[in-house]
Amino acid sequence: MKMILLGAPGAGKGTQADFIKEKLGIPSISTGNLLRAAIAAGSELGRKAAAFMESGNLVPDELVLDLVKERIGQPDCANGMIFDGFPRTVEQADALSKMVDIDMALLLDVPDEVIVNRMSGRRTCPNCQTTYHVVSAPPKVEGVCDKCGAKLGIRKDDKPEVVRERLAVYHSKTEPIVEYYRNKGVLKVVDGQASLEQTRALVAEAIGVEL
Ligand code: AP5
Repeated sequence: MKMILLGAPGAGKGTQADFIKEKLGIPSISTGNLLRAAIAAGSELGRKAAAFMESGNLVPDELVLDLVKERIGQPDCANGMIFDGFPRTVEQADALSKMVDIDMALLLDVPDEVIVNRMSGRRTCPNCQTTYHVVSAPPKVEGVCDKCGAKLGIRKDDKPEVVRERLAVYHSKTEPIVEYYRNKGVLKVVDGQASLEQTRALVAEAIGVEL
């Protein structure tokens, strides 16, 4: 399966990607995580990307496409992959269509008001990138990652004013690719505003796996 998770920032793409990758045994590729890793490593690409990310804008297509090309060439992608947060522009979608035949684009549909609430409670592991929520998905020990024990933090771009900018960028630049995949006949839409468990059940049904 080669699939894309579409949805606004905070729609739950990363959360559902973790579930799907376990069910299908294929890697999830988050361009946001790849870019944050490049920033943490202090690479030239990371330095170029940082200012765009901190202000809530998109990183230029050519930088993101280089990262994706490199990642999908790795052996664990031989049987498929889940793209999380990529593509984000029609230009990226066109470039992806030349690299991979997408079987499904799954849109997690969540209204903006729900997103703003969710983002204010998100906590992220800076080490393994696992995501939590202070109310809906808390870690076992407050402030500590269940998976690797690192201290949880708040992403710089989760400040309310940056979240509003990210939503505006989503509506103007990324939403058009929903139609792009609808026209290709591979779009499925899931209501992503219910609880984590309910959304997971809808995702399982959409991809045809047992919970
Ligand atoms: P990226 O890291 O991709 O961020 P995003 O798309 O804005 O998405 P998020 O990671 O914020 O949210 P999510 O949908 O994964 O939600 P999550 O599961 O965490 O991108 C960051 C930046 O990098 C971009 O702004 C851009 O600058 C750059 N970038 C990345 N890719 C790019 C590209 N292709 N081109 C150009 N630039 C790019 O859930 C959110 C919270 O809600 C969590 O706390 C979670 O626990 C909780 N939650 C999830 N589901 C539910 C639910 N059903 N009920 C209650 N709570 C829930």
